[in-house]
Amino acid sequence: MAVTITIANEKGGVGKTTTAINLAAGLALRLSDQPGVFGRILLIDMDPQGHALMAAAFGQHTAPAHQSLSALLTESPPPSIQPMLRQGEHHPNLFYVPSHRTSMSEASRVLPTLMANESRLLGALQPVQNQFAYIIIDTPPTTGDLLINALVAASHVVIPVETSYLGVSGLRELQRTIEAVQLHFRPDLRIFGYLPTLCDEQRGETQEILQELERRYPQVVLPPIHKSSDLAYAHSSHMDVFTYRPPRRRSAQILSSSSRATQEYEQLVDSVLNATWRLVTNG
Ligand SMILES: Nc1ncnc2c1ncn2[C@@H]1O[C@H](COP(=O)(O)OP(=O)(O)OP(=O)(O)O)[C@@H](O)[C@H]1O
Ligand SMILES: [Mg+2]
Repeated sequence: MAVTITIANEKGGVGKTTTAINLAAGLALRLSDQPGVFGRILLIDMDPQGHALMAAAFGQHTAPAHQSLSALLTESPPPSIQPMLRQGEHHPNLFYVPSHRTSMSEASRVLPTLMANESRLLGALQPVQNQFAYIIIDTPPTTGDLLINALVAASHVVIPVETSYLGVSGLRELQRTIEAVQLHFRPDLRIFGYLPTLCDEQRGETQEILQELERRYPQVVLPPIHKSSDLAYAHSSHMDVFTYRPPRRRSAQILSSSSRATQEYEQLVDSVLNATWRLVTNG
């Protein structure tokens, strides 16, 4: 049974997509020598902008509306997800469902008028739960049914938080949304961790902000991701950072290179595996 991890924060530009793509790619690399389903990762992009898919398969990430994610969310009955699954460009074991930008934006508008509007993604993923080890879901920077669907479909949430005073103080609304999803749909949904992102050691207040995060959310603050030009360049080159800055000799054991960003995202991949691999293998 796949472990499903949603990357969420309603604030824009905090590193959600960067985290989604690098976690998905890192897991795909780490699990590349696992047999069958244990090595397969699925990336779902609930943001109509489709930036996560661009990093997975630039140029092939779109499809006509009726063969894309929006059809799974809005059609009754929904089409089958199976024929929609596509293989990513950089990792043969990283799969995705293509998107259609305008119909995804439209989906966010019509979902509130449909039956079962909060659990459509959960229902759409049900038939392929046993075909993947991990499902990673990126979300848009808005509150609404696309985000709710991504949370209802998940067992774990990773919350990237920009390492700034504003970044730390703006988390209330997301917490309330997560609590509502736990109350009504997923009592088992848990916050895997707060991930400090865009961390800048040159700024004096950085340590103070990290301590404030620890104080508010003891035990669940993950090791920070620092500002890195490799992450920005990988993003604009439509790649994950492990593909953009590979090690000299790659193996499932060695993902990271001399690039600090690869080391930091490898650490996130390993914390996820350490905490959840037994859930994948125990079914
Ligand atoms: N650690 C980092 N160092 C440098 N640049 C980064 C880092 N993390 C993200 N970025 C860059 O910051 C921008 C925003 O990041 P990203 O797209 O991941 O955020 P997001 O939360 O998904 O944004 P949105 O809310 O618009 O979907 C991108 O250009 C990305 O390349
Ligand atoms: Mg994004």
